[in-house]
Amino acid sequence: MTKSSNKIFLKALQGEVLEQPPLWMMRQAGRYLDEYRKVREQAGSFLKLCYNPELACEVTLQPIRRFGFDASILFADILVVPDALGQNVRFETGEGPRLNPITNLEELKQLDLSKVDEKFNSIAETVKLIKAGLPKDTALIGFCGSPWTVATYIVGGQGTVNQAPARSVAYSDPEFFQALMDILVEASIDYLSRQVEAGAEALQLFDSWAGSLPVDQFECWIIEPTVRIVDALRAKYPHIPIIGFPRGAGPLYSRYIEAVNVQGVSVDETIDPKWARDHLQSKVTVQGNVDSLALMAGGDALKRQVDMVFEAWSEGPFIFNLGHGIQQFTPLDHVEQFIKLVRR
Ligand code: CP3
Repeated sequence: MTKSSNKIFLKALQGEVLEQPPLWMMRQAGRYLDEYRKVREQAGSFLKLCYNPELACEVTLQPIRRFGFDASILFADILVVPDALGQNVRFETGEGPRLNPITNLEELKQLDLSKVDEKFNSIAETVKLIKAGLPKDTALIGFCGSPWTVATYIVGGQGTVNQAPARSVAYSDPEFFQALMDILVEASIDYLSRQVEAGAEALQLFDSWAGSLPVDQFECWIIEPTVRIVDALRAKYPHIPIIGFPRGAGPLYSRYIEAVNVQGVSVDETIDPKWARDHLQSKVTVQGNVDSLALMAGGDALKRQVDMVFEAWSEGPFIFNLGHGIQQFTPLDHVEQFIKLVRR
C-alpha cells in the first residue's frame, strides 16, 4: 500500500469509485474567511503573502482546520509566473491585478526564464511547510495557470472583457504570441516541477478563460501548450495526477480530454453533469460543478445542485467542488451546509 492510499482525493483521481466522494473548493483560502483577512493585512500586500512561506502556509491550512476538506491547495496565484519572469505585477485593493502590458517581441525581452529561482523557490518552500502541517488524510494540490489564461493578463495588463487584447494580438502577431506561449510553457513546467519536488501530490492547471476562443484558436493556444506541459510532467513524474480546468469550454471539454493526458477534469457550472458523465467521466475523474452563486444563496438552490451532481456522477469517479472559485461574500453557514449535504 502506498502512503497516499488513505487520501480519498487521490483515490478518486486514480479512478476509484468511492462511497464518499472527496470535497474541496476552488479558492477555499481567501477573503470569505476572517482569519484570512487578518493574515493578509499582516502580510501588507497580496504578493507579499504569496512569497512569505510561513504566512502562505498558514492561510492554506485555515480552511482545512475550519472545514476539514479532503484536499488543500497551495496558496499562491497564477500571476506569480509573469511576476517571477520579470513583468511588473501589482494587486491593487478592490481592483484586481495590474501588469505593465507586454504586446510585442521587443517588450517580450523583459521576460527572462533565468530570473525565476528566488520566487519559485519561495513557493516551493511554502509547499514543504504545508506538507509538514497537513492532517494525514488531506492531499496537497499544486497549481499554475495555463499559458493562454496567464497570457490574457500579460498582454491585457489586467482582467479584460472577452480577453480581446490577447485574442487580437494572437491573430495579428502570431510570431509574438507563439514566443510568449513558449516561455510560459517552459516556466510552467519548471514551476510545477519544483512544486512536485517539494511535496505536491496532484496538480491543477487553471485555464479560466478557455471559453473565449474559437475552435482553431482553442487548438493552438489551449490544447497545444497544455499538451506540452502535461507530457513533460508526466515523463518526469508518472505518478502525479493532473487535473485540467478549461473553464467555459462547453463541448470542447471533450476535445480537451481526448488530447490532453489528464487524470481529472474540473467542470464549470454551465456544463450539465449528465453530459459530463456521458462524455467525460467514462475517460477521466470529473470534478465540480456546483455554482458558486448557489453556494452563496444556500438553502434549496444549493441542495438541488448537490443532488444533481450526486445523481449524475455517483456511478463513476468524481470529486465534489464548485464550478469556479468561492465568492468573497459567501456566508460560512452555507459552506457548512454544503459539507453536510456532500457528506450525507
Ligand atoms: O484556491 C485557492 O485557495 C488557492 C489560491 C489561488 C488564488 N488565486 C488566490 C487569490 C488560486 C488557485 C488562484 C488562481 C487564480 N488567480 C486564477 C484562476 C482561477 C480563477 O479564479 O479563475 C486567476 C484568473 C487568478 C488571477 C487573480 N488573482 C485575479 C483576477 C485576482 C483578483 C480577483 C479577486 O478575487 O480579487 C486575484 C487575487 C487573488 N488570488 C486573491 C486570492 C485569495 C484575492 C486577493 C486578496 O486577498 O486581496
